[in-house]
Amino acid sequence: MGATGLIGQAFVKILSSHPLFRIASLTGSKTGIGEKYRDATNWKLPLDFPEKAGDIIITKPDIRSLKEMGIRIVFSALPSDIAGEIEDDLRKEGFYVFTNAGAHRYDPDVPILVPDINPGSIKLIEEQGFPKSGFIITNPNCSTAGLAVALGPLKKFGIEEVIVSTYQAISGAGYPGLSAMDISGNVIPHIEGEEEKMAKETKKILDIDPDIFTSCVRVPTLYGHLETIWVRLSGSPGEEDILNAWEHSSPEFATHSLTKRPVEYINTRGSVRNDLSFRGDPPGMQVYTGGLRRTGNRVGFHLLVNNLIRGGAGGSIANAELFHLRYRSNK
Ligand SMILES: NC(=O)c1ccc[n+]([C@@H]2O[C@H](COP(=O)([O-])OP(=O)(O)OC[C@H]3O[C@@H](n4cnc5c(N)ncnc54)[C@H](OP(=O)(O)O)[C@@H]3O)[C@@H](O)[C@H]2O)c1
Repeated sequence: MGATGLIGQAFVKILSSHPLFRIASLTGSKTGIGEKYRDATNWKLPLDFPEKAGDIIITKPDIRSLKEMGIRIVFSALPSDIAGEIEDDLRKEGFYVFTNAGAHRYDPDVPILVPDINPGSIKLIEEQGFPKSGFIITNPNCSTAGLAVALGPLKKFGIEEVIVSTYQAISGAGYPGLSAMDISGNVIPHIEGEEEKMAKETKKILDIDPDIFTSCVRVPTLYGHLETIWVRLSGSPGEEDILNAWEHSSPEFATHSLTKRPVEYINTRGSVRNDLSFRGDPPGMQVYTGGLRRTGNRVGFHLLVNNLIRGGAGGSIANAELFHLRYRSNK
């Protein structure tokens, strides 16, 4: 759902050659209905257009017809204000919904799942009634996704306080997003609701309650959210301990989309930069850190997360892979 938007494009790109899932249907808003995906979509990713999906006809997100087609899994890239009700209805009808929208992130029985950080939270789907009913699994907001992946391995050092400033790309606002007059050559220190979301989601994902201070800023880059972070720890690990924690942060299980090195430290003077966004294997799933500094029990670093892949569709697809691994692979 929302296949023509930016997150939708990332979904279609990854799913069109995925070993576990097959695209059965693509939905959009009124504008593209009845058109082929290639005609209805203004392709904006810096990756080749997925020709295999090009002839699929865009339809309305209609639950009855999705059911008739035998579809089980729905990936949602809908705007949050629309997603809430449709996703609820889909769950009631038995669908497994993996969503990027924020509508259900704070429901107590809905996980904000980052498979290499809090895989255990997937069990919350049982509180939603699964396997008797469908479920909703959310992934975090794009900037939170990167923060959670970098902070997860540092949790063992006792995270007491986090101060984070973001430099978020234009693509984070969807397509067409901000007006060119507003963002060209400009920096805008306002992203509606983002600062509150980052603090709240990080606490839910990591299951900790530190003080978190956030400042979120839109900058005129296209892809990748850069963040500068200071963390106060109760322990006082050396820089080597921090680097080791990131280096050895690979998940204990393997899925198609999860990278073996969720956090890669960039040890060059340029530190992390937006042009790393689509690097890695699979592209866009790695979070990059750099510029590590330590003062007493405070640790500072930079971070880059691909907002459309790790912070968006790739994260959601990795969630579906974990679901398959935990609940379906023996069936
Ligand atoms: N962009 C990011 O970096 C990012 C990261 C993480 C999470 N998210 C979340 O992911 C979701 C999608 O974001 P996006 O950036 O991809 O937005 P987007 O580019 O604006 O795409 C929105 C999609 O939803 C469709 N849509 C809009 N209104 C609809 C309606 N009434 N009924 C059915 N479909 C409708 C649009 O179809 P048309 O093209 O036909 O209008 C389009 O396919 C949002 O909830 C956003 O908060 C975004």
